Parts: sequence; structure tokens; C-alpha cells
Amino acid sequence: MALESLVIQGPNQLKGDVQISGAKNAALPMMVLTLLTDQPCYLSHVPRLKDIESMASILSSIGTQISIKDETHVLDTKSVEKTHAPYDEVRKMRASVMVLGPMLARTGRARVALPGGCAIGVRPIDLHLKAFEKMGATIEIQDGDVIATLPKVKACKVLFDRVTVTGTMNALMAASRGNEPVKLMNCATEPEVTQVAQTLQTMGATIEGVGTDTMTICGRNDLQGFSTRVIPDRIEAGTYMVAAAITKGDVRLSGVEPSHVDSLTSKLEQMGVSIQKEGQDILRVSMNDELLPVDIQTAPYPGFATDMQAQFVALLTQANGKSTVTETIFENRFMHVAELVRMGADIRIKNSMLSISGKTKLSGAPVMATDLRASASLVLAGLVAEGQTTVNRIYHLDRGYERMEEKLIPLGATISRVTSS
Ligand code: UD1
Repeated sequence: MALESLVIQGPNQLKGDVQISGAKNAALPMMVLTLLTDQPCYLSHVPRLKDIESMASILSSIGTQISIKDETHVLDTKSVEKTHAPYDEVRKMRASVMVLGPMLARTGRARVALPGGCAIGVRPIDLHLKAFEKMGATIEIQDGDVIATLPKVKACKVLFDRVTVTGTMNALMAASRGNEPVKLMNCATEPEVTQVAQTLQTMGATIEGVGTDTMTICGRNDLQGFSTRVIPDRIEAGTYMVAAAITKGDVRLSGVEPSHVDSLTSKLEQMGVSIQKEGQDILRVSMNDELLPVDIQTAPYPGFATDMQAQFVALLTQANGKSTVTETIFENRFMHVAELVRMGADIRIKNSMLSISGKTKLSGAPVMATDLRASASLVLAGLVAEGQTTVNRIYHLDRGYERMEEKLIPLGATISRVTSS
């Protein structure tokens, strides 16, 4: 198989405009929502990503018709009869576990291989399964597959032991074709969850408490099709905000939802970065001074996103003084650290906390990461490092960022994609 790498000549200073794509983590659940209706659904602003292709391939493998018309994805699940999502498709992406909820709602039965995806910690799905069980489901694990049966949703209360993004979505979707109220407590409030809940409302489900951590859903079995534009990707936006800051650049991001990046804006401002809102969906991020150190702790939304932790670690190597980063969501999410240290960073790990001493001069090196956001952090470090950085195996990066080099080149970065066999 041909392997692709990104080769970056640093240091770079980024200036100019970048357009933010639709959110991967909203587009994926919106694709599976289509399983809840027999009517065609229209989804626009879908990012062109490997994970989207993987989800399309899972949905096609069970009979969904997918076409793209004027940049709008049209998904029609009328002829879906299969309830088995096979391992070959599912192993590529953890998010594929999200087909469980809607398949259960549609047919009362679902069989899905236990998922793969980024190697960031254990990432069980026990909370998803417990929620289904509360609704009356029977769950079995057989040959690495989860087999769930739910003939009828019963009225219940589900209290999530911890906040889970796809778990909340899965529970909403499983309950959406029943006609008994299901109260979900300690829900994730990420904007992607809110978009899923709002779309379910337009499909005909009754949901109280959308956007809060307690939602009560009462479904119906004749849910309608929908036509929705995917919200902007707050993690992609955050990554380009960090790219502007780390290169002491001046970048205008358009197509952003500023309120979704509040936690990032606030940390960047504490570091001395200037962030101006130039319109409803435009943020201008610039920096021309020394970066200040900060302490960061990841948390569920609206706290600091774990999906931005790695990129901030790269940035904090360039701040003057000592910063700390505490990861509270995933126990093994520091794959970028060893590679950043090889580039010259001074980072110590103690349990789930990093101490980063800056500012360190980074030098280019061949590096690699096996997690999507860790790969992004290495690209950011490569932008500011002296000399050549080769970020190898960018398969993971392509899962979550639309051709990153094509967005960075117009901003003035010296970066290219190379293929080796
Ligand atoms: C989603 C995002 C991912 C992000 C993460 C946290 C998608 C497709 N992916 O992942 O980008 O990093 O939220 O913001 O939206 N947990 C359990 N049992 C479960 C489920 C989760 O113990 O059944 C734990 C996880 O191991 C983790 C924490 O709960 O420690 C949060 O995980 P969760 O919010 O479920 O992450 P994902 O939905 O998989």
C-alpha cells in the first residue's frame, strides 16, 4: 500500500484566509440518522474525509443509496434490510458504533462489530449498552460483535455515569422511534449532539431540554426525512487558530461558529493571542509577541476539548515559561509527546498531566502519530520547527482534516504531500 507523508520546511509564518469545513463529528451521526426514516435525507456541508467515506461504505453495505448532487449528499435508506454492520467496515472507525442506536430503532435488532479507530485509551461502549438496556434491550457479545434486540422502547430514566458524546447520540437515536418518554441525564452538550437532537426534532421526535445535560425524548415511528447543513468543525477551526498563533501569523478563518470555540479563544487570549470577530462567522487570529504559558485541563463541552489538547501542547512548547496540561477524558492521549520531544520540546509526563517548559527551539525530524489529533499537533510543530519535518503515515490526519496541505499552502506554508510505496 502506498503511504503518504507531509513534508514541511520550517519555519513558516501563516497569513491569509482559510475556510472551515463541516464538522466530521456532526456529519457522521447525521449520516446514520437517515436510518430512522424511509424518506430521502439531504445533508450539505459534509467534509471530504476518510471517516465520511468509511461511514458511507458501512451504510452502503447494508443497502443505503448514497448520491451527491450539487455538493449535497442524498441518503436514501428505503431498501435497508440488513441489521449487521460487518467488522471489515467498522474496524476503521470507532464512530461506526453509532449505527447501533438507529438500527435498533428501525428494526428492533442490530449486530455491529466492536469498533476500532484511534488508539487513544480503552474507549469502551458500556455506557451506550447500559442505556439501551434501560430502554428494554437485550445485549449479547458474540464473536466480537454486539448483538442487541429492542422490540419496544419502554419509558425509563438513563443516568450516564460519565459524559459520553456518541453514547448520548446513540441513546437519543435508539429512543427516537418508540412512543414512551426516555429521560437522559448527564448528557453530553457538545454542539454536535445538539445538532443531532435538533435534526431529530425536525424529523418529528419530541425532545425537551435540547442543548442541556438533561433531555427527554419521546419518539414516533413515522419520522420524516430532513435537509440539514452540517455545523462548522470547531476542532478544525481550533487547529488553524493554533497554526496562526504558533507561527506568529495573521489568519482569518471563515465559516466558523465563534461560540463553539469559546474555550479555545479564552486560552489563546490568556496566551496573548489576538482574536477578533470580524463578522458573524469570521475570526481573525493574530500574534506578534511572545506567547505566555497557561494551564489547561480537558473537560466535556463547554470545557476545553480533548480533541484540541495535542495541538495546544505543540503551541505551549513555544510559550515562555512553564505550562501544564491535564487530560481528563482519555487516559492514553499523549502519543504526540514523544515525537515533540524528539523535535526538541521539553515535556514531562506524570500520570495524566504534562509539564511543558518553553520556549524551546524545535528542529525538523521524521515523525509519526497513530492518532488523528496527535498527527495535527506534529504538523503544527513542523510549521515552526527549523528545517524539514516529515509527518509520516498521515492516514489518521486524513480521517479528520480535509487536505490540510491544501489549506496551509495558500497561507504561505511550505508543505507538500509525498507518496512512498
Ligand atoms: C467523541 C468524539 C471524539 C472526542 C470525544 C470526547 C465523535 C465521533 N468522536 O468520541 O472526537 O474525542 O467524543 O470529546 O464524536 N466512555 C466509557 N464508556 C462508554 C463511552 C465512553 O467509559 O460507553 C468513556 C471514554 O473511554 C472516555 C469518555 O467516556 O474516557 C468520553 O468518551 P466519549 O465522549 O464517549 O467519546 P466518543 O463519543 O467515542
